[in-house]
Amino acid sequence: MTGELRDHDFVAVTEAAAVAAAQTMGYGDRHHSDHVAVEAMRGVLAEMEIDGRVVIGEGERDRAPMLYVGEKVGRGAPGDLQVDFAVDPLEGTNLCATGASDAMAVLAASERGGLLHAPDIYMDKIVVGPTARGKVDLDAPVEDNLKAIAGAFDCAVSDLTVVVLDRDRHRDLIDDIRTAGARIKLIGDGDLSTAIAAAVRGTGIHAVIGAGGAPEGVITAAAMRCLGGEIQGRLSALSDEQRRRLAEFDIEDSDRIYRTEELAPGEDILFCCTGVTGGDLLRGVRFFGDGFRTSTLTMSLKEGVIRFVETIHRGEDGGPVYFY
Ligand code: FBP
Repeated sequence: MTGELRDHDFVAVTEAAAVAAAQTMGYGDRHHSDHVAVEAMRGVLAEMEIDGRVVIGEGERDRAPMLYVGEKVGRGAPGDLQVDFAVDPLEGTNLCATGASDAMAVLAASERGGLLHAPDIYMDKIVVGPTARGKVDLDAPVEDNLKAIAGAFDCAVSDLTVVVLDRDRHRDLIDDIRTAGARIKLIGDGDLSTAIAAAVRGTGIHAVIGAGGAPEGVITAAAMRCLGGEIQGRLSALSDEQRRRLAEFDIEDSDRIYRTEELAPGEDILFCCTGVTGGDLLRGVRFFGDGFRTSTLTMSLKEGVIRFVETIHRGEDGGPVYFY
């Protein structure tokens, strides 16, 4: 694709979504927070000179008015670059609605076909960073995976921190991790942002395990391609509605484990996320009267770059610039 596009070309896109969502932080209305983030992201994408297509988005056309799967985004003029997008304008809608940490605005982009069009169902996942890449197996007992991760980090299992979504479906998983002796960080939402944190040394997170959204799994895979980490995922339908969705995709082998390169096979992957509320990796949007400041992570697989971008948006009156 994207020969002419760079990772930082999307900073304004996720910044706009993050700022719009952050303005609603704590209002207790996750749908509204999501809606304003979607509108803002779509508005900035519309200005771009690209022929874009959403492959992972807010859902199918009949259920999502904007940024639905299949929606064209960008100017779309003849000769414009063809780009596929996986977007999550507000990852962690509840986190934003309650002012909890780790909500962010996210997108991944690739050449056509570079991101799997996964149904909006659950995915059983295991995510590790570059240090433990190639050492884990989704089908292995949790204890074995934890020993393998500890071996890769040259530490004890008891030194590991594993992130798990705090859900009833994870009771056995949590018991198994505790029995194996690793530490657990239970999160209310947001397995995508913590998956990225697991691939960055110094965040103190070594793995993310458990069932979360399949769309988040594809976006995680795009990030892992850029960071050298690994995700393994198996689609998992937990309700009749989800089984119907799975059947619509004609996926015959429901036991199949998707590897990082199968979820995000593109050769030219760009990734961009901006913090809405602060978290392990990014600071949230900070408003200071006549302006605001945002923290964004951008990555390019092809260029092999990872950037942390701090942007100060000065208001009309200019206003002071704060270095924090
Ligand atoms: P939203 O941003 O759509 O609210 O999703 C948040 C999230 O926690 C994801 O990070 C995670 O993959 C998924 O929801 C888990 O789904 P569920 O809340 O149904 O367990």
